[in-house]
Amino acid sequence: MARKKFIAGNWKMNTTLEEAKALARGVVDAVGNISDVDIAVCPPYTNLSAVYEIIKDSNVKLGAQDVHWEAKGAFTGKVSCAMLKSVGVTYVIIGHSEQRQYFGETDATVNKKVKAARGSGLLPIICVGETLEERKSGKMDAVIERQVRGAFDGLSTEDALKCTIAYEPVWAIGTGETATPEQANDAHVFIRGIISKMFSDETAGAIRIQYGGSMKPDNAKELLSKNDVDGGLIGGASLKAADFAGIVKPV
Ligand code: 13P
Repeated sequence: MARKKFIAGNWKMNTTLEEAKALARGVVDAVGNISDVDIAVCPPYTNLSAVYEIIKDSNVKLGAQDVHWEAKGAFTGKVSCAMLKSVGVTYVIIGHSEQRQYFGETDATVNKKVKAARGSGLLPIICVGETLEERKSGKMDAVIERQVRGAFDGLSTEDALKCTIAYEPVWAIGTGETATPEQANDAHVFIRGIISKMFSDETAGAIRIQYGGSMKPDNAKELLSKNDVDGGLIGGASLKAADFAGIVKPV
């Protein structure tokens, strides 16, 4: 089964309200009527509602950058799945390496968030990837396998199929250093193999795996031409509508 490409912009902790509105308008103008690629933008929480108003009649979908697993209550600073749904969110990034590195995200919390997201109908974008040290010391496969197994533990096949995986080697994030198309594809094949062992060949063949890490207009085409690279999770280059558009429709 052919997998539809999926390009998502992770705006991280960037954009004030006005900046987010301008960027969203730019994205809609540039790629809003493209339907052969799935497209999403993931602004900070504060800008979700305003961005939704701008993109809602286009093909661009809304994503959030994180979510808490509890439904409601005394969890100061956290945002629930129902809250995200209520402002038009479709996708949610879970387990980003910055969350893992700076904010104590673990495979166990990733799993709770994935289950909560699926329970409320959100579509998770689950991030996995090794650090440079892990790659150099030969631990890469073990780390990725642990992250993937942790994230998908206890999920039904139906829910697994609603997830996207983003392979984001930590050493390539925001560094200008990109995995080669071959390195990316090899990692994606490895990840697909884990999904196959956990679920089935059919599920592994259907699930989409994005690459993330310094993807830009000038390297996107080659990365996206690889058989197992089904899209991109874009950081820095998603903050300029023209660059994001250049990745969605590489020339
Ligand atoms: P950059 O594209 O800035 O390297 O960030 C990638 C990323 O972390 C997307 O989630």
